Order: sequence, then structure tokens, then C-alpha cells
Amino acid sequence: VEYRDLGSTDLSVSVIGHGLWGMGAWAGSVDEDSVAALRASNELGCTFYDSAQIYGEGRSDRLLASFASQRDTGLVLASKLEPLVRKFPLPSGLKFADVYGRDHVLKSARNLFNTFGDRPLSLVQFHVWDDAWLDDPEFMTTIDQLRGSALALHVGISLNGGEPWTGLRAVGSQVIDTVQVVYNIFEQRPGDELFPACLENDVGVIARVPLDEGSLGGTFTRDTRFPETDWRSTYFTPERLAETMGRIEAIEADVSSGLSLPELALRFCISHGAVSTVICGMRSLKHVRTNVDYMSRGPLDRDVLDALQRHRWDRA
Ligand SMILES: NC(=O)c1ccc[n+]([C@@H]2O[C@H](COP(=O)([O-])OP(=O)(O)OC[C@H]3O[C@@H](n4cnc5c(N)ncnc54)[C@H](OP(=O)(O)O)[C@@H]3O)[C@@H](O)[C@H]2O)c1
Repeated sequence: VEYRDLGSTDLSVSVIGHGLWGMGAWAGSVDEDSVAALRASNELGCTFYDSAQIYGEGRSDRLLASFASQRDTGLVLASKLEPLVRKFPLPSGLKFADVYGRDHVLKSARNLFNTFGDRPLSLVQFHVWDDAWLDDPEFMTTIDQLRGSALALHVGISLNGGEPWTGLRAVGSQVIDTVQVVYNIFEQRPGDELFPACLENDVGVIARVPLDEGSLGGTFTRDTRFPETDWRSTYFTPERLAETMGRIEAIEADVSSGLSLPELALRFCISHGAVSTVICGMRSLKHVRTNVDYMSRGPLDRDVLDALQRHRWDRA
């Protein structure tokens, strides 16, 4: 597995990262299986793990902390501060004080520190972000205090899916170390402005949702359904699923690389030089093993990338 610098931090991370949302909050997750998957990815060379306080109301943080306590060093652990306003995507124009506020940020960071055995996380991210907060004195004081608190080694932001431009000012501000953004064969907009800005400012990029919540894994059909309690039942409405399947069929007809869809999807993400790590949700050992294997083959060839770029889908 290849390792890349996480922006200007002193951290180096595996290009394949492990995302814990599914483990924390999706239907059918079993903690023992999740821990086995975390162990397996690390044994195969994965060092970057991404969680959030809200995933299962702390479940994925607890899983990650338990797994990390059995490892000595070398893990790069990331989580996200829970916002007071739970709106995803975050509407623009909300004040920092209403979405987070200084006291809530410091309290949440302290909770994370405690959950991880009184150790600072490698990376603490704001789960939602609005560039206008850079003009808010309360935000600037908060981030200074967070950095000075020793509760987190580095600080990053996570952007609304499909809205990579909402972090452009932050990337140029020298205030944050990393940006997390949806990036995959469909969602290619981060390549327009955000990634060039990250390269210019040496900001680490965490590319998330590389398999479009599973559709680019190549196992869905038009009849795939999720339990009502599972977030994916609202993401993959029958209409959206039908359109997604049509686009997947178009990729399969157009791109004759001989590679499987999940291999194309994962290696597409590491083919952009701005990307430090690609966090993929993997609860099963099978997915861990195949995905690490795919990623060990490196970036895709130029002709395959050119073909995949034709399948960009700018969704509203
Ligand atoms: N707002 C935010 O900041 C935010 C939002 C969304 C996601 N994230 C982060 O990004 C991470 C990744 O996104 P995600 O997990 O939502 O979506 P994803 O990585 O695009 O897709 C995960 C799904 O793909 C399946 N899968 C994995 N490898 C596969 C393969 N080789 N073939 C077929 N299917 C495969 C997984 O199955 P199994 O799990 O059953 O193995 C899981 O159902 C999250 O876990 C989370 O850490 C952050």
C-alpha cells in the first residue's frame, strides 16, 4: 500500500483509509465483525481511520477506540465534532454560535479525548462547515483554543456532499490542516477548484464515499432496497437507484479496462495527486481484503481515467 503526506501535517497516511459510518449506524452492523475488519485492514497496511461522534451516537468512536487501544503506534485516528444543529447538508447562512459555539466545541473535543483513553486524536474535524465562519471572531478564538488545548493534534473540516466550493476559502486560509469531501466517479466536482487549491496550500485531502454509498461496488440491482431505519433507504430512492443503475451500465459499456467496477472506483480516487487518503466503508473482511488489494495497484492509466471522466454526474 502506498502512503502519502497528509497535507503539511507531519503525518503520512495509507491511500486506503477505513470509514466507520456504516459500522456505527447502518442496518446489519455487528460490532465483532466491525472490529475484525478494522484489525484486518491495519494488518494489511491501512493506517487511516475516520469516525464521527454522531455515528451511532458514539458507537463507531467506541469501536475505534477499543481497536486502537490494542495497537501500539502508527494509527492516524480521525473523528468529527458533533454539531448542535443536525442538518445534513448544512444550509448556508447559519451562525457558528448556533451550529457549534465555542463551549460546545471544546466540550465535544474533551469528550473525544476521554473516549480515546485520554489521548489526543490525530485529527479532529468539524463535521459541517460554512466558509463564512472564517469572518466570525468566535470561530477564530475557538480554533485557536482547540489547537492550544492538546485535545487534538490537527484540525480539519468536512464539506457537504456535492458542494466542494463551500470550503475554498478555508483551504486558502491557513486555518485548517485537512478537508474531507465526497469524491468518486460520479462526483468529480472537487477536481475543478478544490483540489488545485489544496495542492497550492498543502492541505490534506480525505476523499470520502468512493463507492457512492455502495452503488459503485457493482452489486446493486434496480430492486435493491434498504430497511427504513437505514439512511441508505432515503439516499437510494427507487428513482435515484434507477438513474444510478443506468449510469453504472453506461460505465460498464464504455470503459473496457478489464477491471471490476469497485477497482475502477477506488483507484479513480487515488489517481488525483491532491488526494491523501480515500476512506471506504468496509464492514466485511472480504471487502477489506479486496479493496486493499485494488489500492495496492496504484493510480489508473491515463486512458482509463479519461474514459471515467466522461461519467461525471453533477447531482443537485
Ligand atoms: N459528512 C461526512 O463527513 C461523511 C458523510 C459520509 C461518509 N463519511 C465517511 O466516509 C466513509 C466512506 O463512505 P461510506 O461508507 O458512506 O460509503 P462508501 O465507502 O462509498 O460505500 C460503503 C459501502 O460499500 C460497500 N463496499 C465496500 N467495498 C466493496 C467492494 N469491494 N465491493 C462491493 N461493495 C463494497 C460496503 O460494504 P460493507 O460495509 O458491508 O463491507 C458499504 O456498504 C464513511 O464510512 C465515513 O467515515 C463522512
